[in-house]
Amino acid sequence: MGGAALLLAATDALPLRAMQWLKVDGGPDAMVAAVNYDPGVCLAANASQNALTGEILFRTPSLLGGQAAKAGLSCASCHVNGGDNPNFHFPNASGAPGTADVSNSFFSATGGNGTFDPVSIPNLAEPGKVSRADPGELEAFLKTLIVVEFAGEEPHPAALSALADYIRALRSCEVQGESGRSLAGDLALVERAALMAERRMAERDEDMARLLVAGARDTLGRIYERFAGDDLRKERNSIEHSSITLHAASRETGSSNRIASFAVWRETFHGLRQILQRREDESLYNVQRLRERLE
Ligand code: HEC
Repeated sequence: MGGAALLLAATDALPLRAMQWLKVDGGPDAMVAAVNYDPGVCLAANASQNALTGEILFRTPSLLGGQAAKAGLSCASCHVNGGDNPNFHFPNASGAPGTADVSNSFFSATGGNGTFDPVSIPNLAEPGKVSRADPGELEAFLKTLIVVEFAGEEPHPAALSALADYIRALRSCEVQGESGRSLAGDLALVERAALMAERRMAERDEDMARLLVAGARDTLGRIYERFAGDDLRKERNSIEHSSITLHAASRETGSSNRIASFAVWRETFHGLRQILQRREDESLYNVQRLRERLE
């Protein structure tokens, strides 16, 4: 089945962005399983607000700099739900599927160590090389990872703290059925990110608010991808509109205008949720549809 894998990797008509970074040994079924891969990692039931904020940042490409951000890569592209990703394959940064060389100069002009030494992407719910003890080592590791390895901007201390608490709150859990992705889950992430952004704006924490809005909009982009095809054009337009109005609300300078704009956004978002849920079966959240798309 190696030929089929090559075929899938070579086409630029892949329906989901994340598929570009997957290499599967097999045809459409293997690709569907890989893009919906569920590593069996959950957040602790008592996860703090800070950890929940970290979850949004973890999924936001703009946290990383340089080539990674440009490509749309986030922490979650490699660590799916905080776990591993056995089929991850990034040109010039991976060896065997599931590996990456994060000290590769491809991701950073300064962080590259000059040698190509890809290693398996670890499941962050399991104890690793970096101590998870609070506070300290993990925050320092993440800062180096973002600034040196990925050439990102120096993260706000609050962003590092949120990311570190997210990692500390990861637990192994039962695998949740066949699919790791759901429309309801993605919509909940968007809503939560927007709410947290609004809260940060009220606290004049512009940097975090900007990252959280970027996270909400990136998730909307992933929902958009799954609503593919001519029949769902109206739904896609509504998703795009939601993304644009969220961005505009986050740019309001006066606090009363901002509060009003966010309130309007939330109301239309509830409408959007209903519109999308009604047609979910026709979208690529439906595993069967996704599979057909790859044939
Ligand atoms: C291109 C894939 C990739 C991306 C993107 C990525 N990682 Fe990793 N990550 C890895 C690999 C591979 C390792 C193992 C490195 C090693 O062992 O030297 C790793 C290691 C780690 C570890 C150490 C785990 C341990 O052993 O204790 C943490 C924590 C971590 N990553 C968090 C993050 C966070 C947070 C982000 C986003 C800012 C991120 N990673 C982005 C691939 C990636």
